[in-house]
Formats: sequence, structure tokens, C-alpha cells
Amino acid sequence: MSGKLEGRVAVVTGGGGGIGAEICWAFAQQGAMVAVVDIEQEAARQVADAIQHSAGQAVAVACDVTDCNDVEQAADQVEQKLGPLAIWVNSAGVSYILPFLDCTEEIWDRTMNVNLKGTFLGCQAAIRRMAPRRRGAIINMSSQSGKVGNSHYAAYCASKFGVIGLTQSLAVEFAAQGIRVNAICPGVVPTGMWDKQIEDYARKRGIKPDEVMSYFESKIPMRRVGTAQEVAHVALFLASDEAAYITGQALNVSGGAVMH
Ligand SMILES: NC(=O)c1ccc[n+]([C@@H]2O[C@H](COP(=O)([O-])OP(=O)(O)OC[C@H]3O[C@@H](n4cnc5c(N)ncnc54)[C@H](O)[C@@H]3O)[C@@H](O)[C@H]2O)c1
Repeated sequence: MSGKLEGRVAVVTGGGGGIGAEICWAFAQQGAMVAVVDIEQEAARQVADAIQHSAGQAVAVACDVTDCNDVEQAADQVEQKLGPLAIWVNSAGVSYILPFLDCTEEIWDRTMNVNLKGTFLGCQAAIRRMAPRRRGAIINMSSQSGKVGNSHYAAYCASKFGVIGLTQSLAVEFAAQGIRVNAICPGVVPTGMWDKQIEDYARKRGIKPDEVMSYFESKIPMRRVGTAQEVAHVALFLASDEAAYITGQALNVSGGAVMH
């Protein structure tokens, strides 16, 4: 039985952890040849090795998505090793929670560089290679914070609103060339990013770290947080031919928390 992405070459930035790693697995299980791209070389290697051990096809590529040369070299390396790029997922991201007046220029720049510039560079590298073949699917990881502003989250929200603007603009510019560009807007998904921030979530709300989960659950209509696998299923759909008539969308995967 052939998979939904049989033989297609897919790059997943941030593939070494959390949501990105689940997307690598979901794509590989549907027959894609996956490049696990991450700044953490060892993390990327572990994900690629595990996929290969379970009979999937994957390679690890070390790359800092904020560096144009790094991203271009990574794209070249992937095409040399695996073949023409068909799918590119920008999932690499960072997040800092702190009062706006404590947000330093360095934190602002870091957030924008990884989340927004990294997505811009990834889209350029992908489209440069996909456009001559008039075929490709790009998926950018935004957030529910790309749809609704939040206190102590100005830089992150600004970067994720930006990702949606970038996605819509590229969707229009490249629709006639066969390239679809969509975004996913996850709600709360416990990953490494979540673990790093649990103290900050608690401080911001004046609650204890072990109360954070039930706080979020009480705010989400489905009364639970999401899983990285649930986000990966949506990425798989958007990357596949089942989404052939969908471009420029920013799909919420947030248990009903955001509905626009
Ligand atoms: N977890 C959530 O609740 C949540 C919600 C909404 C959106 N998101 C978004 O989903 C994406 C994935 O988040 P996650 O929760 O899996 O985070 P994570 O921290 O578990 O994984 C992020 C990955 O990106 C990599 N990375 C960071 N900086 C990089 C760089 N400069 N170059 C290359 N790789 C880099 C990290 O090494 C890590 O492997 C992010 O864009 C995040 O903003 C997450």
C-alpha cells in the first residue's frame, strides 16, 4: 500500500524536537523521505536514526534557520541526498514569556529571527527550488498567538502574526505556479517549549507550576491540551494531495480555543 506522501522529499525545520519531530514521523510513515533539520545536531540525528530503524527514510541536517547561507546549504544538501524538494515545513521556533517592558532588544531580535526571519528564509529556499518544477507544499508553524494578542507575549505574538501575513502573501504570489503555502495555529501543546516555560506561565498568572495544566484545561472548550501528534496530522493533510485546493489558510488546532 502506498502512503499519502510516497517518494516525496520533505524538509522539517525544528524537526529535532516537539511538534517538528512528530511531523517527521507522520510524513515518514506515509512514505516521504524526510530531512530532519535542526540547530541541535544530536537531536536531529536521534529523530532521523529512530525513523530509519523503523524502516522509514530520513536524514539529519544541522542548520540554524536564522542564517541564510546555512538554510541554502541545507536545502542543497537535502536535494543532493534525497532528490527534488516537494514539501517544506517551518517548525523551528522559540518563545519567551515576560512583561513587555522587560523584553530586551536581544529577546525581541531572537524571537523575530528564529520565528519570522527563519520562516522567510525557509520559504525562499523552498520556493527557489519548487517554482521551476511548478509543484510544492509549504507549511509554516504559526500559533493561536498568531491570531490573538496576549500579555507578556508581545514579541512571540508579533512574530506569529507575521508568519500568517507571510503565508498569505506567498500563497497569492505562487498559487498560479503550483505552490501551496499554509499555516497551522496550534493551541497549547506540551513539548520541550512548554517545559521550559512552565515557571513563566505560573509566574505570569500568580499560580503554582503544578496548577498551570488545569488552568489551561479550564480555558479550552475541549477541556484538554493538544498533542504534537494532533498537530502533525494536520501538517500531513496540508502537505498531501487531499489539500490540493487549499492555500493561504491558517488552520487552528486548539480544541476550540480560537475560532477565527
Ligand atoms: N508547543 C506549543 O504549545 C506551541 C503552540 C503554538 C505554536 N507552536 C509553534 O510550533 C513550533 C514547534 O514548537 P515546539 O513546541 O515543538 O517547540 P520545541 O522547543 O519542542 O521544538 C522547537 C525546535 O526548534 C529548534 N530550533 C530552535 N531554534 C532553531 C534555529 N535557530 N534553527 C534551527 N532549529 C531551531 C529547537 O532545537 C527544537 O528542536 C514553533 O514554531 C512554536 O512556536 C508551539
